[in-house]
This record gives sequence, structure tokens and C-alpha cells, in this order.
Amino acid sequence: MKIKLFAATAVLALGLAACGGETPAPEPVAEAPAAEAPAPEPAPVATASIGETPADPVAFMKTRSDNYKDLGKNFKVLLDNSKLGTPDMAAVSAAAAKVNEYAGLMGTWFPAGTGPEAGKTEAKANVWTERADFDAKLANLQTEAGKLVTAAGTDAAAFKAQFGPTGGTCKACHDTFREEDKDK
Ligand code: HEC
Repeated sequence: MKIKLFAATAVLALGLAACGGETPAPEPVAEAPAAEAPAPEPAPVATASIGETPADPVAFMKTRSDNYKDLGKNFKVLLDNSKLGTPDMAAVSAAAAKVNEYAGLMGTWFPAGTGPEAGKTEAKANVWTERADFDAKLANLQTEAGKLVTAAGTDAAAFKAQFGPTGGTCKACHDTFREEDKDK
């Protein structure tokens, strides 16, 4: 990278801060891009090895919450389409793939030090004390979400038949591990 100073006006015009130092990354959450490409914005993804407390637990928990919100958005697409006589199967396939992707990542979202003791979260403390049960419920989601992807690629009837079982695995985990309506 060139560290060359141009006329200050040019630097300002370009909006560049030409300082050679490493700036600490401010936040893992990207601002929603100004309306430009129709491509779906890449969802923020919190990843950390289980047991490894992230350097910034509050930022990590915010990203986790954002991930769940995006998961919820995709799930809503599936819910809405499951009620249609003729579901939009392209939208269904895309949303199912996203749900499946999040299901595969979710196991990395709850490292030590990111529970209620660390700040605002709907995750209950038992996520960390009843981990085997949490992991079993997550495995159920992964199984059903995988089937959902296959069903979405099959036909509308297959999708509709697999939607309920998938949603059931969300609810099963929330009933045990998620605080409902906390500061909503
Ligand atoms: C293995 C457990 C588990 C499974 C399975 C699960 N969730 Fe959750 N979910 C949680 C926990 C724990 C939270 C609270 C996270 C937090 O606040 O940090 C949560 C939070 C959420 C939120 C709230 C986000 C917010 O902050 O407002 C949504 C929406 C959500 N989940 C959707 C889903 C959907 C849809 C599925 C199924 C496709 C699902 N979840 C499956 C455990 C799970």
C-alpha cells in the first residue's frame, strides 16, 4: 500500500485518511449498504470457538442477535410462502439455504462469557450449563433444515410438508433456552 501524501484537498475529496497505522476494526456489523445492488447483503456472522471468550463480548452478542434476526427474516419468507397455493420456490430455496447455513454456524455463537452476565441477551444462562441438551436441540434443527433444503429443491408439496418440522426445532430450543420478550 502506498503511503504517499497528496494535496490535502485531494485527500479530503477522496475521504481518505492516509495514516500508516492499523486502525482497530470498529464493529463487526456492516451498515446496510445504500440501495445499489439487488444482491442480498451478506449477513453478519458471529464465530468463535466454544469456550473462547471473544475480545469484545458485547459486540459479539450484538452480532449474534443480528444473525438471529436475519435467520428470523428468512424463516418468515418460508412461513409466508408455506401459506400460498403457489409458493415462490426460488425464494423458498434461497431462504431454506440461508436457514441451513445459519443452523450450521449456530454452534459457534455461544462461547463462554457471552451469557446474561455479560450484557443484553435473550440467551438464558442454561445454554452454558445444559450444553448437551442445547447441542441436541441444535442438531435437530440441522437435520430438519437439511431436509428443508432438499424439499425446497423438490416441489411445493415437499416444502410445505417439511416446513412444520423445521419450525418445531426452533420452538423446542427457544422454549428451553431463550428468554421471551425480554426488553422488546
Ligand atoms: C439450539 C437452540 C436454538 C435453535 C435451534 C434456534 N434458536 Fe433462535 N434463539 C436461540 C437463542 C438462545 C436466542 C437468544 C439469542 C440472544 O439473544 O443472544 C435465539 C433468538 C432468536 C431470535 C431473536 C433475535 C432477536 O434478538 O430479536 C430469532 C428471530 C430466532 N432465534 C429465530 C430462530 C429460528 C427461525 C429458528 C429455526 C429456524 C431458531 N431460532 C432456532 C436459540 C435457538
